[in-house]
Amino acid sequence: MNLILLGAPGAGKGTQAEIISEALNIPQISTGDILRRAIKDGTETGLKAKSYIDAGKLVPDEVMIDIVRERLTMDDCKGGYILDGFPRTVPQAEALDTFARTDAVIELAVDDQVLVERLSGRRVCLKCGATYHVSMLGDQTCCEKCGEELVLREDDRAETVLNRLKVYHEQTAPLIDYYEKRGLLHAVAGDQGIEGTFEAIMRLIKEKA
Ligand code: AP5
Ligand code: MG
Repeated sequence: MNLILLGAPGAGKGTQAEIISEALNIPQISTGDILRRAIKDGTETGLKAKSYIDAGKLVPDEVMIDIVRERLTMDDCKGGYILDGFPRTVPQAEALDTFARTDAVIELAVDDQVLVERLSGRRVCLKCGATYHVSMLGDQTCCEKCGEELVLREDDRAETVLNRLKVYHEQTAPLIDYYEKRGLLHAVAGDQGIEGTFEAIMRLIKEKA
């Protein structure tokens, strides 16, 4: 099944994509993770993307479309995949329609106030990409999976978060209407805890399968 997870920054796309990926044994394709890896590796794409990400702006459509088009040709996508963070603009969605079939779009709906609280409390592992929230960490300062130190993501600083939310409402939220018109949209409340949200998504996926 080819799935898209749609939602504002902090809605839980990465968190849910990771557990859905394990449950369905299909890859999670996170464009944010791909870009952060490219920045870390100092590639040409990484150099181009860095200033946009740091400012909380979107990386240009043509860069993102090329990345995803190429990624979806890989063998591990043959049995389906979960897109986390793509598409994010109407031109990206239109481009995706030309090279891939989409079976369902899951919109994680969460209030802005909750999003700000989640992002300021998020801690990430820059080595393996694992995500945590300070409320669950207690004394823990290192990644459970690989032992690396956990950090605040550069674009989770308060000012950048507000800009990312603005960009979401202006440029990404129109995709809700785009996919609703195509009969693909399923809204799930993203504020019911990680497990509750996951169960709601899995119920939807089973109905579609
Ligand atoms: P990206 O990495 O995709 O960031 P984002 O969309 O802003 O989303 P986040 O990763 O911040 O949030 P999330 O929804 O994954 O939430 P998470 O699960 O971590 O993109 C970063 C940047 O890259 C963009 O700003 C842009 O510049 C660029 N970019 C990427 N893709 C692009 C594209 N297609 N086009 C153009 N530019 C692009 O959860 C957040 C926190 O909440 C965590 O601490 C988590 O533990 C906690 N949490 C999650 N779910 C729950 C729950 N149900 N209850 C309580 N806590 C929860
Ligand atoms: Mg994410």
